[in-house]
Amino acid sequence: MDTFLTADDLAKTLRQDVREGLTATPKTLPPKWFYDERGSALFEEITRLEEYYPTRREREILIARAADIAAITGARTLLELGAGSGEKTRLLLDALSGTLRAYVPVDVSGDFLADAAAGIAADHPDLAVRSVAADYEQHLHLLPGGERRLIAFLGGTIGNMLPAARIGFLGGLRATMSDGDFLLLGADLVKDAARLVPAYDDAAGITAEFNRNVLHVINRELGADFDPAAFEHVAVWDDGDEWIEMRLRSVRDQDVRVGALDLEVSFREGEEMRTEVSAKFRRDRLETELGAAGLELAEFWTDEAGDFSLSLARPAG
Ligand code: SAH
Ligand code: AVI
Repeated sequence: MDTFLTADDLAKTLRQDVREGLTATPKTLPPKWFYDERGSALFEEITRLEEYYPTRREREILIARAADIAAITGARTLLELGAGSGEKTRLLLDALSGTLRAYVPVDVSGDFLADAAAGIAADHPDLAVRSVAADYEQHLHLLPGGERRLIAFLGGTIGNMLPAARIGFLGGLRATMSDGDFLLLGADLVKDAARLVPAYDDAAGITAEFNRNVLHVINRELGADFDPAAFEHVAVWDDGDEWIEMRLRSVRDQDVRVGALDLEVSFREGEEMRTEVSAKFRRDRLETELGAAGLELAEFWTDEAGDFSLSLARPAG
């Protein structure tokens, strides 16, 4: 495993993010801190929930299009950002077996990634599997180069960035790409709030646990004394921004101490802290944002129901 994120880097960034987020008005926390071992496992559980359609829909597209992706890209290296379990990626690895030499999964959740990558390496003995613990918002320029790379960013994770971060990210990604490289981008599509909200507020309460997990992470890593049970999970559809917003709502007036920051924070009863946005897209917006970053669409696919999209893009000629 290559590490661009040491335990020290992680601790430092977490401290910065938590200080900034908890002293802002309104309070916020960035979503990347959901994903310790427990958070990654909870996310995997979410992907199997009846209400959470994105993973199933994206898998449906990959099953239908993996052979096309292989034929168009002829990729030698598959670099996957925010790879997580890499479970859907196996469809790509199989389809690309004629040309693919290396798989490079990148994730901020290093231990979870190492386990997932070991499983993939065992099933693909001819493939060089080189996992990288890194933050794709900071370390794109450090990721391995090479000819004919397919950069996969699946799951709709691009939607977890705010618009300005997304534009910076796509521009940074384009800057690392050469002719012959492709980006395979999974993005969830705008749809009825009656389907979107339950996908982020499931009946079994798994998404609520995933949301509250960030408080467990801060307690453990920064010696804080959040009482996770004193925060309710909230998921709302914002029609103007076309994103789902996850928040944690304080059920009472309470003070929280973050030991490592020597910080005392007060929450009012009913106060909401944003923990994630999950933006939903339309084809036009994706095409425009990719275009602004210097990328052009080679293909745009959706599942049969039109719920989720996969874009295949390349450096604009
Ligand atoms: N690609 C998988 C997992 C999606 S969950 C799928 O489609 O199912 C999002 C993944 O992105 C998690 O594994 C999380 O640890 C990772 N992640 C979130 N923010 C990140 C960042 N800034 N840099 C690297 N990985 C990140
Ligand atoms: C990883 N990401 C695409 C998920 C999403 O749907 O935005 C994270 C998630 N949040 C709540 N449920 C799942």
